[in-house]
Amino acid sequence: MSELTVYMNGDFVSESQARISVLDHSFLYGDGVFEGISVDGGRIYKLEEHVSRLEASALYLRIVPPLTHEQMVEAIARVVAVNDLRDGYVRPILTRGTGPMGIDATRTITEPNLVIIPQVRPRLSDEQRLDVGLGAKVAGLRRTPPDCLDPRVKSNNYLNLILAKFEAWDAGVDVAILLDTAGYVAETAGQNIFVVRDGALITPPVYGVLAGITRQTILTLQGESGEPALEQPLTLYDLFTADEVFVTATLIEVAAITSIDGRRIGAGTAGPVTRDLLGRLRQAMQQDGYVVDFGEAAAS
Ligand SMILES: Cc1ncc(COP(=O)(O)O)c(C=O)c1O
Repeated sequence: MSELTVYMNGDFVSESQARISVLDHSFLYGDGVFEGISVDGGRIYKLEEHVSRLEASALYLRIVPPLTHEQMVEAIARVVAVNDLRDGYVRPILTRGTGPMGIDATRTITEPNLVIIPQVRPRLSDEQRLDVGLGAKVAGLRRTPPDCLDPRVKSNNYLNLILAKFEAWDAGVDVAILLDTAGYVAETAGQNIFVVRDGALITPPVYGVLAGITRQTILTLQGESGEPALEQPLTLYDLFTADEVFVTATLIEVAAITSIDGRRIGAGTAGPVTRDLLGRLRQAMQQDGYVVDFGEAAAS
């Protein structure tokens, strides 16, 4: 496969030539923010929402993006176009910028680094995500509380989630469910979580978790079908006694959780609500995304 082209501070360079200084403050301190955006059939799904969330994360961390909202949208679309990426994943990363080293230097850095990295999209089979489903472990480690570092910020520091993920891997499963410091269900190490009970959909309030863009889409789709879509605190009782549990994220879309800590959840396979919502999400992704102009990029 030919090399992908990366956007780097206004230039387009081949992936192997894309270089960031070792004094970049995201490399040194995790001081930066990012997004994960999917491309399906040449459309970029929820592009505006992803750019808005990137801007909100940057605002929280007091990083000033070098591009306007419209320019950022265009830059991401251009990365998709120049790579002819019809089905893929795009990751904009905005960092504080390049050093001097030292936290005290932070306030002197005025030029952030912006890179946009494309990737061919890895896909989980529907057999895996629905029929078999994913096994989960409730991590001992708690989700970082908002009064320390708000989980709504999609920052380049994922250590809280990575450590929880190791707990899941140690238990032989892939999904780590994190509780918040009060013991309520927060999210997994990379996805939002939902339960289905008597036809109603419930997910934890956005306070204390990433405001997932897929999460919001699923709530909206459920609302459109006239069924209850609730944002309410959940405990482990709610997970263990649910009819269905599933997770959502840009890359994974919707995937059933069929066991937690070795206990079978629901019927042990994806239930009807999970399957229906995945189908409707996919339909929306094919109809609603930002349409990339591949012809123009090829010509220029
Ligand atoms: C911690 C965390 N929660 C939830 C999500 C799901 O968010 P989205 O649906 O916007 O991809 C992600 C994915 O980026 C995540 O990293």
